[in-house]
Amino acid sequence: MNSREIRQSFLDFFAGKEHRIVRSAPVIPAEDPTLLFTNAGMNQFKDVFLGKGSREYVRAADTQKCIRASGKHNDLEDVGRDTYHHTFFEMLGNWSFGDYYKKEAIGWAWELLTGVWKLPKERLYATVYHDDEESLELWKQVTDIAPSHILKFGDKDNFWEMGETGPCGPCSEIHIDLTPDGSGGPLVNVGDHRVIELWNLVFIQYNRQGDGSLEPLPQKHVDTGMGFERVTAVMQGKSSNYDSDVFTPLFDRITELTGVTYTASLESATDIAMRVLADHSRTLTFALSDGAVPGNEGRGYVLRRILRRAVRYAGTLGCHEPIMFRMVGVLADTMGEVFPELHKQRKTVEKIIRAEEESFLATLGRGTEIFNEVVAAMKVAGTAAVSGADAFRLYDTFGFPLDLTRLMAAEVGFDVDEQGFEHCMQEQKARARMDRKDKMRASEDGGSWEWFAEERPTAFIGYETLEAPATLLAARKAGDRLLLVLDRTPFYAESGGQVGDRGTIETGAYRFEVAETRKDGELFVHVVSAAHDKVRDCAVAPSDVEFDGTAAAAEASVDRNSRVDTERNHTATHLLHAALRKVLGEHVQQKGSLVTPERLRFDFSHFSRVSPEELEQVEHEVNAQIRKAEGLNRHVDVPYEDALSMGALAFFGDKYADRVRVVEVPGISIELCGGTHVGNIGQIGMVKVVGESSVASGIRRIEAVTGRAAEALLWKEYRDLQEIRQLMKLKSDEAPLPKIQELLDGRKALEKQLQETRLAGLLDTLAASLAGGEEVNGCRIMTERLDGVGGDELRQAGQALRDRVPMAVGLLCGVDDGKVSLVAFASDEAVRSLKLDAGKLVREAAACVKGGGGGKPELATAGGKDPDGLGKAVEAFVASVKSALQG
Ligand code: ALA
Repeated sequence: MNSREIRQSFLDFFAGKEHRIVRSAPVIPAEDPTLLFTNAGMNQFKDVFLGKGSREYVRAADTQKCIRASGKHNDLEDVGRDTYHHTFFEMLGNWSFGDYYKKEAIGWAWELLTGVWKLPKERLYATVYHDDEESLELWKQVTDIAPSHILKFGDKDNFWEMGETGPCGPCSEIHIDLTPDGSGGPLVNVGDHRVIELWNLVFIQYNRQGDGSLEPLPQKHVDTGMGFERVTAVMQGKSSNYDSDVFTPLFDRITELTGVTYTASLESATDIAMRVLADHSRTLTFALSDGAVPGNEGRGYVLRRILRRAVRYAGTLGCHEPIMFRMVGVLADTMGEVFPELHKQRKTVEKIIRAEEESFLATLGRGTEIFNEVVAAMKVAGTAAVSGADAFRLYDTFGFPLDLTRLMAAEVGFDVDEQGFEHCMQEQKARARMDRKDKMRASEDGGSWEWFAEERPTAFIGYETLEAPATLLAARKAGDRLLLVLDRTPFYAESGGQVGDRGTIETGAYRFEVAETRKDGELFVHVVSAAHDKVRDCAVAPSDVEFDGTAAAAEASVDRNSRVDTERNHTATHLLHAALRKVLGEHVQQKGSLVTPERLRFDFSHFSRVSPEELEQVEHEVNAQIRKAEGLNRHVDVPYEDALSMGALAFFGDKYADRVRVVEVPGISIELCGGTHVGNIGQIGMVKVVGESSVASGIRRIEAVTGRAAEALLWKEYRDLQEIRQLMKLKSDEAPLPKIQELLDGRKALEKQLQETRLAGLLDTLAASLAGGEEVNGCRIMTERLDGVGGDELRQAGQALRDRVPMAVGLLCGVDDGKVSLVAFASDEAVRSLKLDAGKLVREAAACVKGGGGGKPELATAGGKDPDGLGKAVEAFVASVKSALQG
């Protein structure tokens, strides 16, 4: 059977025993802070074991991607030196959640190994936990294993625990004797490659607590794990996992890349190196495909160490350039069917690994020289351990993880002072914390970049492409935004009136939304408005994004739609400029412009309003040009003087370099311009002018839309017009204007009529009230409050009342829309014989409502701001009148 068939046959066997076949969980555990990497098939079921979660099935089986390179289960140091340890491997597993227990687990394991796969029974050994008599008996009862092949072991070998805390329990393991003569019994559990563990059956019944105690679980479960690579090798009759068809494609690839062939020797330095490369390429590819990225901390640092270890071993094969990234494809090709993420992430993973390799290779050679100098000095001095300071220097300056230095030291028979290293490390961390504080302060003040690599100007590649791989060189926080600098970018940075591009920048760890791009000297600054943490699969505030201090591989993608919309508007601006000069005259010069994806704004010199007819002519001219569908010519690197003699229009007031870029629409327009443009003016679609206004004396502004925005605008206007026609019951081609005019005229006449009727009614009421008013010295006095009647109407009413009664004086007042109005009137007779003065009276009254006014003795008006004072105003009026009449 080949490895694919073996994996499938395992799953089929347990499907036949009513197990649900589930997908492998990612190697990056979803929500378990106790784990850096998924290290066993049961991780994804931890909640079920602990009684905190449930599944809709009670039996499950799968193949689980596992990484054991850190924490409790760490096989890193063994990889390469033996035939059966890996940092990445697949674990075939079957589970019972409170369902079947020891009897079935043991019986089925035996059935699959000996019945289905036909492994020789006499080569198999079963181990049980020293006090687990039940399992011991079951092995005898349900299998035909030789009783002498059932062995007892203690905590170290037969009590399995997931980590420092969590589910655990006694286990029973199945080992296979691969010695030529079958004499391996005594080698069980002694770490000999000739007798290896194949399958572990764990009887989960406890939860290990933080204080070390064991808490019994509410239910008992089965958790098994079989090393897929081991069982494959055994089934294929190989004495080493690395000889099975799981690894041969990887060795073939390494041979292809380095010319070194694999000889399956345990001691050969090149064979060790090839095993390391094969193993590590799997770990890196699977981890990165699940979203992890090399970094300076935690999981990222484990991966970085693994990669650097591999790069160092590649050197043993004479390979001093990036090689690990070239292994990703083999894995995608051979395992992508079972693990589709390998296909999906292939390009990103290759990019990240390559960048990581390049950055380490850049210092590896020099670091190795330093290491050799250190060793030479040690030999002279007779010391046995590389000092902490030297190990730290290798780490800090040359990126040598401690385990790499340890490995290199061991190769020449030395130790490393790890405590000393740790001491230097702590000191440096303290320094970094201080630095960081200083840096933060600097960036709040004026902004200072955190460089991940040597500072250099950004190369702009956005004329040619909208998407490109790049390297993240620097970052800086600015308020709630994050600013990024790449070594090269397709993002156009705002200049010459054209706004900067929007889009996304993706690193292995994050996806950044770029809201705008600006220039900062020679740097193109990408302003990030939102970020997504790819590892945790959640949004993260741009200001909370953390970098590991290294130059990461990135993929920069400009938002194509907004870039193309912007280009339409930019080229249209050039056409508009040319058309304005043609229609209005050569005095038209550009004074400013703004080109966004949504619209264009063009300011130019001109001394009067551009009439609607002229505007129509300009717009028509531009659209007629667009229909000619001319291609654009771009002349780059033209000496400034030559550009001017070509007839290129320069935007006066702008600073141009000695050598310039010229954008030409043949026969129509030629301008100095660094912006981005459509390839052919036909792509603009059409231009629609939407506004004309004055900016300053002698400067006019035209605003316009093109392409998609023009279409949307015209469609909206058209739809509105159709709705108007429908509302007015017009035919679809009937002009609505005459009918609208008719309606407006009719409405005006009606309003006038309405007002006259209201006034007449009002007057009748007021006249009655005047006739019934108090009389003092033969003069009638009236006051009337009429809220909701406008000041104008009150004045007309006052005027009319004057004439109705020969001797009268009155005050009309009211609040309309929060405003107080007052009107005082006095009849001619009252003015003449009684010397009453409406102007004086209204002023006095208005003072009570925080207002003022005046007029003639016959009729006067006032306004006020304080409706609450109206009562007082009326009283004041009556009092003044009376004192005038009686006095
Ligand atoms: N969880 C058990 C192991 O990893 C099966 O060995």
